[in-house]
Amino acid sequence: MSAKTAVSRNASLHGHVAIVSGAARGIGAAVALALAKAGASVAVFDALAADDTEASATAQGAVCKGWQLDISDEHAVERAAAEVQARLGPVSIIVAAAGIMPSGAVDSGIAQWRRVLAVNLDGARHLIAACYPGMAARGDGRMVLVSSVAARQGGLLAGAEYSASKGALVSLGRHVARNGAAHGVRCNIVSPGVIETDMNAHLPKPDINTLPARRLGSPQDVAGPVVFLCSDRANYITGIELPVNGGQLFYP
Ligand SMILES: NC(=O)c1ccc[n+]([C@@H]2O[C@H](COP(=O)([O-])OP(=O)(O)OC[C@H]3O[C@@H](n4cnc5c(N)ncnc54)[C@H](O)[C@@H]3O)[C@@H](O)[C@H]2O)c1
Repeated sequence: MSAKTAVSRNASLHGHVAIVSGAARGIGAAVALALAKAGASVAVFDALAADDTEASATAQGAVCKGWQLDISDEHAVERAAAEVQARLGPVSIIVAAAGIMPSGAVDSGIAQWRRVLAVNLDGARHLIAACYPGMAARGDGRMVLVSSVAARQGGLLAGAEYSASKGALVSLGRHVARNGAAHGVRCNIVSPGVIETDMNAHLPKPDINTLPARRLGSPQDVAGPVVFLCSDRANYITGIELPVNGGQLFYP
């Protein structure tokens, strides 16, 4: 078996530099810590200060630094990505987890529509645009976009724009996967079910007896699959939409 076709057993991310958006708390924070634990240097892009994430990662001997910015601001993301490259090294991993989920129904007004699309969808686009050229030039890029079960099912508590943004992330991810494959850039989508975080702390939760796993998910439940998709173990996986929902919804 040639080195190229040998099964890679390498789950280590030593030497990699990752940008994780939305990692001041919740799912993004768990992802940032799990990537740091796997050996990556991690940059956090978040509207909030990422002091807790930085402190936890640093305590386990990792390099982790926060950039406080609005992910919907294209130029701020470009600038910060350039700073990450200058301070931590070339970026080989991005995880787009920043998101907002205002409540609503079918029409919550055009202002809310534009804001949710700007954060949830444009934000991922800005990260990709800032990092894809370098990744493709070096032949190594691993991207994970955090979508949602709402992309397939719609949502009852979130506004329509949330479901639309998450559906569009799946299409965006597949487009990048198709075009990036020949350049060593993989892009996958992870779609969590109901995960206990600040985002939904104020909302009614589903009766856990109606969930096959009999429990809600934790941010760590999502972080593990994300790290796997960023690792060499997933070298031939690109363009998938991975449900992480404890059996709540099976994807065809
Ligand atoms: N919690 C769930 O049940 C669930 C389910 C499916 C998908 N998701 C998705 O997972 C991702 C993380 O969600 P979470 O539950 O951890 O939510 P969270 O609210 O706990 O964390 C979201 C993070 O994104 C940051 N953020 C929001 N707007 C931003 C902006 N404009 N610029 C930069 N950062 C910004 C927040 O400051 C926060 O740190 C989101 O994309 C969400 O849609 C969550």
